[in-house]
Amino acid sequence: MMENLNYYLKQAKEGHYAIGHFNFATEDVLKGIVEACRDVSAPAVMVGTSEGEASFVGMKEAVALVKAMREDFNYPVFLNADHYKSFKKCKEAVDTGYDSIIIDASKLPNEENIALTKQVVDYCRSVSASRRTDISVEGELGYLRGSSEVQTKIEISPADYSKPDQVCEFVSITGVDRMAIVFGNIHGIVTDQEEKLDVGHFSKIVAAEPRPYYVLHGASGLKDEDVVAAIKAGITNVHFNTELRVAYRNEIDKQFHAHPNETTPYKYLGPAVDEVKKLVAQKITLFMGR
Ligand code: G3H
Ligand code: ZN
Repeated sequence: MMENLNYYLKQAKEGHYAIGHFNFATEDVLKGIVEACRDVSAPAVMVGTSEGEASFVGMKEAVALVKAMREDFNYPVFLNADHYKSFKKCKEAVDTGYDSIIIDASKLPNEENIALTKQVVDYCRSVSASRRTDISVEGELGYLRGSSEVQTKIEISPADYSKPDQVCEFVSITGVDRMAIVFGNIHGIVTDQEEKLDVGHFSKIVAAEPRPYYVLHGASGLKDEDVVAAIKAGITNVHFNTELRVAYRNEIDKQFHAHPNETTPYKYLGPAVDEVKKLVAQKITLFMGR
């Protein structure tokens, strides 16, 4: 019997390291992520599908793939519904067998965000009781700009940051396990500007509300030292997507140029997955402070 996700997050919090979260939309990338994490002895890994990624791979299929890999590799892999926006989508993911949910109602007014997040937490707690394992739930506060692609410039303003007192209120009322917060992070990579975390601001949030597992979203494009500093200050879960997408796509381009007549998918996808694996292993080393 494997421990649940909250168990591994607790271990990470106590040990001052972070569990990685990587997105996937295809089986080959998922397998590459899991193999890489197992090979470098990461304690566990979270794999996530956004609503878009889930509609491509299929929710039921994602659950079945993760279950198969967890069994085949005898390794703790947890499937996360990443930034789901409605109760309906969260319920669908839970009912299909996801291990973890992010209800992202951060674009709603604060009171509505709290109410919707609480509704999802309550539903997950009731299902957890009957399944006899915890479904881990994450809420989000602050304005996290950008999307998981290569962009030129994104405005980053302290006005978007999560406010310590609001985080405190949010956690107290909703009872979430994890908190996605904003302190200079954005989704995606920006080519014409530097991404910089305000770790001092994050430390104020942790001081005001130490209970949840804090999650750094949008880690693609950040400098390694920023990620390390954020983990030292209390981040226990780091999300990567765009850098994996870029590595995968660039290697496929390379393979097509080198072998224009190649039509066997595993011959051009295999090297692309190898690039993803290298990157995941590198990130895990960073998260573990090795
Ligand atoms: O939830 C997904 C992550 O926050 C991905 O962010 O594309 O900037 O790595 P990223
Ligand atoms: Zn995210």
